[in-house]
Amino acid sequence: MSIRAASAPNIALIKYWGNRNEELRLSAADSLSMTLDQPTVEVIADHAETFAARGFEPGGAERKLAEKEADRLRKHFLLVKRYLDAIGAAEAFPAGVSLEIRSKVPRGVGLASSAAVFSAIAEAYAGFAGELSRRDVSVLARLGSGSASRSVFGGFSAMIAGEGDAIGASYAEQIAPPAHWNLRDVVIAPSATEKATGSTEGHALARTSPLFEKRLRGIPSRQRDCIDAILKKDFEKLQKVAEEDCLDMHAVMASSAPPLCYLSEETHRIIREIEELRTRERLPVLYTMDAGPTVHLICEERALPAVRVYARAQKNCAIFEAGVGSGSRRA
Ligand code: DP6
Repeated sequence: MSIRAASAPNIALIKYWGNRNEELRLSAADSLSMTLDQPTVEVIADHAETFAARGFEPGGAERKLAEKEADRLRKHFLLVKRYLDAIGAAEAFPAGVSLEIRSKVPRGVGLASSAAVFSAIAEAYAGFAGELSRRDVSVLARLGSGSASRSVFGGFSAMIAGEGDAIGASYAEQIAPPAHWNLRDVVIAPSATEKATGSTEGHALARTSPLFEKRLRGIPSRQRDCIDAILKKDFEKLQKVAEEDCLDMHAVMASSAPPLCYLSEETHRIIREIEELRTRERLPVLYTMDAGPTVHLICEERALPAVRVYARAQKNCAIFEAGVGSGSRRA
């Protein structure tokens, strides 16, 4: 029996940075994101004797997985078994699987595919396990990539950090469905100059920053403000809290040992220009950046024409656009 599942990335409005348990990806604090409707990743999972995974490019050509990627997928498979065992749902789960990962995530737009990949895999594995709750599926996704847990839900979703070291202690839940608020994400990716440190290595450095403890203390009230802004569709409130949180995360990154400086001069220029543009034209648009120089411009529909014009005028930048998505699903 083969199982197909699909998912898409999400963009964090309150950022996940730092774990209390690296192996299990139990996050140090809550986070919140908007799930995107594209680009998608499709996964086909089949029963097999052992574990094997193959990757395919957006054009359909096979892409040889790096050893590190293959290891991460294998480890995830074992952690999934461990969790299913813990909740008494491992019976129907196969001894091995063969995975086909078909990504439509274009290269060079600075969109990490891991959230889409691991939420799609979690959805496929859940298909083997039988009836699992959405929360359980979010735990399966989290075991591969922390932010993937949020892509299990459509619309707006939160990662609840929880407490303790139990494998299922951190999970995601939906804050509002996709139709709640028609926000758009216009992505501007300045051409990357060098390979950045991946999030997995980055999370492990968070505690070396003298700013990290303060960040952790500030997150509960930001998370509440962000949820409130979303529920009330208060864009100005969302803009303030999301930008504050994004800059706070980047300050933690830049002050860790070794420092992680993901933002480029281009990023800072775009931020400045967007601040000017939104003041001048009174536009509901906010900026946010993950672990790279790519700027996500999240906006309400009425700001979209001006934001698009701005994005298209950027030289040497890849542009991508997405709306609010419906989360991972069996295909
Ligand atoms: C900056 O979920 O990519 O994008 O668990 O190692 O895959 P792994 O980390 P990941 O971390 C996301 C970091 C971030 C912020 C966010 O998406 O919340």
